[in-house]
Amino acid sequence: MICLGIEGTAHSIGVGIIKDVKGNCHIFSNLIKTYKPEKGGIHPREAANHHATYIADLISESVQKAGVDFADIDLVSFSQGPGLGPCLRTAATAARALALTIEKPIMGVNHCVAHLEIGRGTVRGCTDPVLLYVSGANTQVIAFAEGKYRVFGETLDIGIGNCLDKFGRAIGLEFPCGPKIEELAKKGARYLPLPYSIKGMDIAFSGLLTAAENYISKGKPLEDVCYSIQETTFAMLTEVTERAMAHTEKQEVLLGGGVASNKRLREMVETMARDRGAKFFVPSRDVCVDNGAMIAWLGFLMYDSGLRMSIDESIINQRYRTDMVEVSWRG
Ligand code: ATP
Ligand code: FE2
Repeated sequence: MICLGIEGTAHSIGVGIIKDVKGNCHIFSNLIKTYKPEKGGIHPREAANHHATYIADLISESVQKAGVDFADIDLVSFSQGPGLGPCLRTAATAARALALTIEKPIMGVNHCVAHLEIGRGTVRGCTDPVLLYVSGANTQVIAFAEGKYRVFGETLDIGIGNCLDKFGRAIGLEFPCGPKIEELAKKGARYLPLPYSIKGMDIAFSGLLTAAENYISKGKPLEDVCYSIQETTFAMLTEVTERAMAHTEKQEVLLGGGVASNKRLREMVETMARDRGAKFFVPSRDVCVDNGAMIAWLGFLMYDSGLRMSIDESIINQRYRTDMVEVSWRG
């Protein structure tokens, strides 16, 4: 089955085309276009306008790059939520228009679950992981338990990527700031204490962000502050992930989201996994970030398991939670 997926939860609009090959996800094409605000944070309406501008061309280019015809596509899927309303609506409208035009079924999927499933679908040996999903807006620890994907821990305020971007913006770095902070952190030599806030299984970053900004105004070296932010936030993330692994007795950990590109985070989670005798997986960068292929793959899994969605049911859900998904494709 060939499926075209449209991702549009936040600042990226993506179109991916996949095919299932013996239970694995084969990616034919996976194109992404990202809206970059001129200054400040993401403006939902402007991001949606950006997506509306590029979506038609992205669909044509993706089909061309995949080497298929529109008639070969068996299913159209899209990110139904969670995300920013105007962005979600743009992607959903494009998906509906395409599905109706080519007379093929439609399937709305949960963005967070798609991050996990693309790991299972593309990374050899990854079958039942705990996912540490770290992106701009989202920070969640997710695992399959008793018939559903459940959130074992998450941020109580901002996502880790957002925390890095906000700090970066305060010190004049260009968006996305995560990679630049990673470079600066490599030159850091001294650890400066920062709030380590874990509440139960949940995490908070805003106190740490303020404390880090205070260090800058007191003239502490930028490299040391970046180093300390990474050491503290990544230790918090690793701790919650380890506790979820212990609780669920799972032997695999998977990284997802844009912040999974960070080498120091990978190193910390990998060390934790090794110490527990568990396996560590990280998908390739193009499927770690928000992308259409992961949406296509989850759409396929859902459709293949017998689920169907009418156009009427394809309304977006800004607050579509991970544990609201009916997981019919896993035994
Ligand atoms: P979502 O809608 O799922 O929250 P997103 O739109 O924020 O996702 P992603 O592409 O998953 O998009 O992640 C982007 C984030 O990843 C940005 O906050 C960016 O700073 C961060 N990032 C990218 N590379 C690195 C890195 N090497 N180290 C740390 N953070 C990084
Ligand atoms: Fe995402």
